[in-house]
This record gives sequence, structure tokens and C-alpha cells, in this order.
Amino acid sequence: MAQGTTFPLGIDIGGSGIKGAPVDLAAGAFADDRVRIPTPEHSTPEAVIEVVAEIADRFRKVSGDSPMGVTIPGVVTHGVVRSAANIDQGWLDFDARAALSARLGRPVTVLNDADAAGVAELRYGAARDVQGTVLVATLGTGIGTVLLVDGTLVPNTELGHLEIDGVDAETRAAAAAREREELSWQDWAQRLQRYFSHVENLFWPDLIVVGGGVSKKAEKFLPLLQLRTPIVPAKLRNDGGIVGAARQATDEARR
Ligand code: BGC
Repeated sequence: MAQGTTFPLGIDIGGSGIKGAPVDLAAGAFADDRVRIPTPEHSTPEAVIEVVAEIADRFRKVSGDSPMGVTIPGVVTHGVVRSAANIDQGWLDFDARAALSARLGRPVTVLNDADAAGVAELRYGAARDVQGTVLVATLGTGIGTVLLVDGTLVPNTELGHLEIDGVDAETRAAAAAREREELSWQDWAQRLQRYFSHVENLFWPDLIVVGGGVSKKAEKFLPLLQLRTPIVPAKLRNDGGIVGAARQATDEARR
């Protein structure tokens, strides 16, 4: 690392861990080892913000005053969290951008976790240079989705909450459902088949990109799916949230 070079910071708030790293935007990769701290049991805004501050502190030297982006596993409009399916209800209507910027003493960009992964796949990953409609779906505690249309991201699509067969789709098809119910890859793939065939019939995407931690094991379930749309693992696997948050924060700072 050249003397004096600083890197933007990306921090990804998840149901089980809060992860952060400085990001080398030219490479679309971490500029230093990632730090992961378990999400506090009571994941209230106050408790989580302290963890975010701790991670920011650990990278103070490499990130300096560079832009900082933080992802939230819920709808975010203008920095305010608008849904809280898998996080403490205290986040509802919480102005995360204002609170984080005040605590950290620098402007912080706040965005939905799947949207951040979408930014990363668009700029550096599987959706780069793809024309038409790309659906990025992150499979984790919930299902996060992103729609990219000719390179433009439509934020907060929330297609994980489509009602399919009378239930909220993510409760059956998220990676957490596989773990919770101890499903075989085959049985879980059947649920993904139902989910993705429904979504492809609504949006007719040109490509589906699958992210989230489980995308590291894509070979176990993607080949079991029969869809008309090509479906590929996210190139950044589970790092897209951090990389995309740092990229989005930098793009916003330049505007
Ligand atoms: C939330 C989304 C989020 C996804 C993945 C869903 O339950 O509603 O906002 O992107 O989980 O964390």
C-alpha cells in the first residue's frame, strides 16, 4: 500500500455478524483483512452502531476520512430504515444515516444490503456489462433482491417477501430455512425452483445472479434448478455487501 493512500470503508450489518473492510475500488476487492464481530443479541440501533464504530476505528489508519457505506438488512429510503423483517424492531423509521454520521463524525451512506451486493455485481461481478434485466438475489437469513435494468439499479425491490403458495417466500426459500429445517440440497433446491420460476415469470430477466454466504456452495444447488433464465453465482460471493457499500459511498461523495 502506498504511503498516505486511504481506502473507503464498507460495513455489512447482518443477522449474525457485522463485517467490514476497506475496499480497493480499482480492484473491487478488500484492501485489508476483513473484520467480523458477532451481531449483538439485542440488535438495537444503539448496540449495532457501537459495533460499527468499533470496526471503523480498527481501520482508521487505512481509511482516514474516506467515504464510508453501511448496509442494513431492510428497506432504506433517504437514510431512514423502513422495514425490519430480520432485525430489531427499533430500526423501524430510524434515521440510520443521521445517527451513524453523528457517531462517526463523517458522512455515512446507508443502503439496503442486497442493493449493495447489486452495486458490487454490477461494477465488478457477474452483472458487469450485461444488457437488459438482471435479477440479483442474496440468500441468507432472508432473501434480498436487486433489479438491474441496463445497468441502472432499482432500489428496495424486496422480492424476497413475495407471497408464494400463501407464505412469505423467504420463510421457505432463504438459506436460513435450509439450515433451520435441516433440508437436503435437493429439497431446498425444489423450494428455490418454485421461487425463481415465479420470479422469472414476473420479470423475464436475462440473467439471475445468486449471492449470500451459501453462494460459496453454488455447485450444490444451482445445477439442480431448471429455469429458462441463465443463473450464476455472484462473483463477489458474500463480499458484495462490503464492496458495494464502499463503492456507493464513494460515488455519492463525488456527486
Ligand atoms: C429484507 C430485505 C433484505 C433481505 C436480505 C429481507 O428480509 O426485507 O430488505 O435485503 O432480507 O437481508
